[in-house]
Amino acid sequence: MSRIVYVNGRFVPEAEAHVSIFDRGFLFADGVYEVSSVLDGGLVDNAAHLARLERSLGALGMASPAAPEEIVRAQKELIARNDLDEGVVYLQITRGPADRDFAYPAVPRPTLVMFTQEKALVDNPLAAHGIRVVTVPDVRWKHRDVKTVGLLAASMAKQAALDAGADDAWMVEDGFVTEGSSNNAYIVTGDGVVVTRHLGREILHGITRSVVLALARERQITIEERPFTVQEAKDAAEAFITSASTFVLPVVGIDGEKVGDGTPGPVTRRLREIYVESARAGIDR
Ligand code: PDD
Repeated sequence: MSRIVYVNGRFVPEAEAHVSIFDRGFLFADGVYEVSSVLDGGLVDNAAHLARLERSLGALGMASPAAPEEIVRAQKELIARNDLDEGVVYLQITRGPADRDFAYPAVPRPTLVMFTQEKALVDNPLAAHGIRVVTVPDVRWKHRDVKTVGLLAASMAKQAALDAGADDAWMVEDGFVTEGSSNNAYIVTGDGVVVTRHLGREILHGITRSVVLALARERQITIEERPFTVQEAKDAAEAFITSASTFVLPVVGIDGEKVGDGTPGPVTRRLREIYVESARAGIDR
């Protein structure tokens, strides 16, 4: 099935969508992106994704080629044209085409592309059984709070996990878990305390993370935002990840060792439930 995608203001069949080989996104990974989930044909947490997009653009000294209202209109039109009920809308802005030069072009012509992907987010089979992760060194750059398309290290981490027979990788720096290859990482202690790394340049400030932590706090679940070690994670009662494309997903194994009893734990299952409920209640059609 051919999708309709968005390229610089136009809606075109995917086979007809083109970006220049001189695009700085292609040559320098000079671009930023967002992934917003879609439930019941509507956008989830999208305003927060677009606010983070602005921050990422600002960090790279890039201006958006479209106002947020135009972006939202285009996202909704893509959802409608592709008849998307559940999945994600991917959005990418690069500094655009320019003759190859490390210096930024004086007058950039940014590229804005968007496309949809269908995905079973709520009835994700991994939610019932949980995923297994392996730990790998975090070899990414030092501005992980900026959501750039420079994703090779994350992609290598994910592939290393699959090659090892696991589902995903948790990245480790100075003995502490930073985050997953494309998600934030959490453990739940024996006393039911949810622990996740504090915000900083070492991790992406996940939108799902901020919503899940707020929902948890409203329900009197204690949160500790601090680094945790791999050993602490292996000894934890539960572990999970969050992202726009996974929501809350249980982690049941780390480096071949069971977390808790090796099945999704009650705190994780509850947080997934309340996140999905709140996402459905707040969708933007
Ligand atoms: N990834 N950490 C990293 C490194 C990520 O790439 C992501 C998201 C997250 C979670 O952020 P959010 O809750 O805002 O989705 C954390 C997206 C889904 C992706 O690259 O496909």
